[in-house]
Amino acid sequence: MKKITIAIDGYSSCGKSTMAKDLAREVGYIYVDTGAMYRSVTLYAMRNGLFNADGSINTGELEQKMGEINISFRLNSETGRPDTYLNGELVEKDIRTMEVSARVSPIAALPFVREALVARQQAMGKEKGIIMDGRDIGTVVFPDAELKIFVTASAEVRAQRRYDELKAKGMPADFDDILKNVKERDYIDSHRDVSPLRKADDAIELDNSNMTIAEQKAWLMQKFNEAT
Ligand code: C5P
Repeated sequence: MKKITIAIDGYSSCGKSTMAKDLAREVGYIYVDTGAMYRSVTLYAMRNGLFNADGSINTGELEQKMGEINISFRLNSETGRPDTYLNGELVEKDIRTMEVSARVSPIAALPFVREALVARQQAMGKEKGIIMDGRDIGTVVFPDAELKIFVTASAEVRAQRRYDELKAKGMPADFDDILKNVKERDYIDSHRDVSPLRKADDAIELDNSNMTIAEQKAWLMQKFNEAT
């Protein structure tokens, strides 16, 4: 069977990664969570004092340090899903905190950050057989992807999902804070100058507000079968 490239884009916390991870496992494709890469750069900036006291970013220093930020993924044998490593350290949990969520979108709006991460993403997908999720995969990273999906759901549904996910991991979560963060990130991600979040013209739209995970999985599998 021919290997293809699958691009899954959409708003924050709309279940893209759950769908993508499950399909990747089932069809033996590599899964890449590009949000984890932007989150890792954010965590690096937080840990290295690259946010100023007023919350702004020390962009000059971050730009210089980009070459030192090594992000990799390794399959977790227990979960069967990839974990994120930042310069060799397992950061899967650290990059999902509300502190990182609150700071990631301004980092992801910086042109030099996008340029560096997009180049790494394109290198990972050179051999095809890849499912990548994010905001600009179908528009910028892989404009020629054979299958493009654009996922949407109401902000309330998405905030509830993120709340349940954090709770399940035993992490602190407040529904109102999460809803506010989801809306803020949607706004910044859709209005930035470089690679704003938008549906590619040839992407298939999925509103999964009222779908179970099993239904979403079956829907995506059908699209995969149609495309291969
Ligand atoms: O997917 P996730 O919600 O973890 O992504 C975190 C943030 O990273 C997004 O809100 C967005 O600002 C940024 N991002 C991006 N482009 C991508 C993936 C994520 O700008 N391809």
